[in-house]
Amino acid sequence: MTDMDARPATAPGEAELAEAGLALEIDGAVATVTLNRPERRNAMTFATWRGLAAIGRSLPADVRVVVLRGAGPCFSAGIDLSMFSGGGEGFSDGSDAAATERFIAELQEGYTWLRRPDIVTVAAVHGHAIGGGFQLALACDMRVVADDAKFCMKEPALGLVPDLTGTKPLVEIVGIGRALELCLTARTVAADEAARLGLAEIVVPAGGLDAAVADLVAALLAVNPGAAVATKRLLWQAPENTLDEQCAAERREQTGRLREMFGGNG
Ligand code: ACO
Repeated sequence: MTDMDARPATAPGEAELAEAGLALEIDGAVATVTLNRPERRNAMTFATWRGLAAIGRSLPADVRVVVLRGAGPCFSAGIDLSMFSGGGEGFSDGSDAAATERFIAELQEGYTWLRRPDIVTVAAVHGHAIGGGFQLALACDMRVVADDAKFCMKEPALGLVPDLTGTKPLVEIVGIGRALELCLTARTVAADEAARLGLAEIVVPAGGLDAAVADLVAALLAVNPGAAVATKRLLWQAPENTLDEQCAAERREQTGRLREMFGGNG
């Protein structure tokens, strides 16, 4: 399957988006996904994660940059806690391990598409980013952060593990020791520390978040689209590859670029 095959035609409709607590705006090459339950601090339900997956599957092929943001006072308060008290769709009790893992895999699809090389993904984080919200920011390629941002991996404090794809990027960014400290204390990381730890690429005053994101998006769009796709693919595989493997990957990608730019077919 190619990257583009992952984009079928059916986009989630307004009702599905509303049910998911999401809003989607597509303006040419830029899609903006808004976590849109501000009265619940953008708490996320199973429908939210399924909705995110549906957005990923149905993005128009000419979208190059996806911005994720939160409506209201924060990015996201994480999982909707009412689901624990039976207010939402039931949790699996884990007794059928295979079914439970399939269920979680479906929810993780709401996050994994953000790494696809055909798009660049930017989390615009202000206020709290807790649990599943923190993991959503971690699933993006980069994070632009307001100086009021507060990150917290709350899951272990609730008896759970972070299972929405966040453990790998967290360890890759901050290292195993700091990741353990953050997860096992469930403490809150403010914007200035997030920047020091590498969790935020850019920190701006809260009122300047939208402008900073717009500047970043404009800069991303100014780069050659094919080179952007190839470079993202290359960079994301670098941590897994040996130097020899990565050199080979660079040669392959560059051959593809040269062929596209100069029309060689040898
Ligand atoms: N699930 C459901 N409802 C929520 C959630 C949530 N995660 N977070 C906030 N809300 C609701 C509140 O119950 C409140 O509802 P009400 O107006 O009916 O009383 C409303 O949103 C506003 O919340 P406040 O607490 O009043 O807002 P404030 O801005 O003072 O605090 C904060 C925001 C810090 C996010 C706080 O609401 C909070 O700690 N929420 C819980 C965070 C949490 O533990 N999330 C789970 C993480 S683990 C995971 O994601 C897997």
